[in-house]
Amino acid sequence: MKSRARLSPPQHIAIIMDGNGRWARIRGLPRSFGHRQGVKALRRVVETCGEIGVKFLTVFTFSTENWQRPQKEIDNLMKLLARAVDEQRADLMKNNVRVRVIGRLHQVPAPVRNKLAELISDTKENTGLTLTLAINYGGRAEIVDACQQALRLQEKKALNPPELTEEKFASLLYDPELPDVDLLIRTGGEHRISNYLLWQLSYAELYFTGTLWPDFGRNHLLNAIADFAKRQRRFGRVIEE
Ligand code: IPE
Ligand code: IPE
Ligand code: MG
Repeated sequence: MKSRARLSPPQHIAIIMDGNGRWARIRGLPRSFGHRQGVKALRRVVETCGEIGVKFLTVFTFSTENWQRPQKEIDNLMKLLARAVDEQRADLMKNNVRVRVIGRLHQVPAPVRNKLAELISDTKENTGLTLTLAINYGGRAEIVDACQQALRLQEKKALNPPELTEEKFASLLYDPELPDVDLLIRTGGEHRISNYLLWQLSYAELYFTGTLWPDFGRNHLLNAIADFAKRQRRFGRVIEE
């Protein structure tokens, strides 16, 4: 186990934490139980990432499409999120984790938004792992929001079309500090990206596993990282063997 952990880890891991509902259904439990177990899985993964020196972990927490779920499930997820913020604060501080959020936050219920704002502020000086929660997040929404931002700058004569380079565009995304994703992990067996980080995933290595998110732990993460370490990332170039 130790030797796997010593592999140089990806700088930025993104996770689509999928399979909570099925985890619960298999056990004859309501979906909310799966979500609650999902918080525990996230806690394990955050700890492991911090331990092995991953710099950025970005997790899909609630998508722009998830508003189409039954209102009861949405309410439950929002409550769970607010509670998790309170419950995890001490550990996040102890583990030197800096928390950030990406997404259309203005549409998130105020009590949740306020708690998140507090957590972001409390952890902003932490220098270990940056944990970014994607909440009411959609990759297309992010790109459209960045375009709107560019148009506003142009209106103020602060941006001309030739100045809108890839670097400039990236600086208009929700969190300009968020680097490109190195490794995307999706649990739960689906082979799709569900509108996640469309810009940042451009050259990510993709890792799909059938493990349901609540079952995902330290060893699953280390396996994914070991798999990543075997990939040859060419970025369009030719690499002579
Ligand atoms: C992922 O698990 C959590 C969220 C989308 C909030 P799901 O709730 O999608 O679980 P499945 O895919 O139905 O099993
Ligand atoms: C993606 O999972 C969103 C989150 C994990 C928050 P979904 O379960 O919503 O994705 P689809 O519907 O299977 O594409
Ligand atoms: Mg799902």
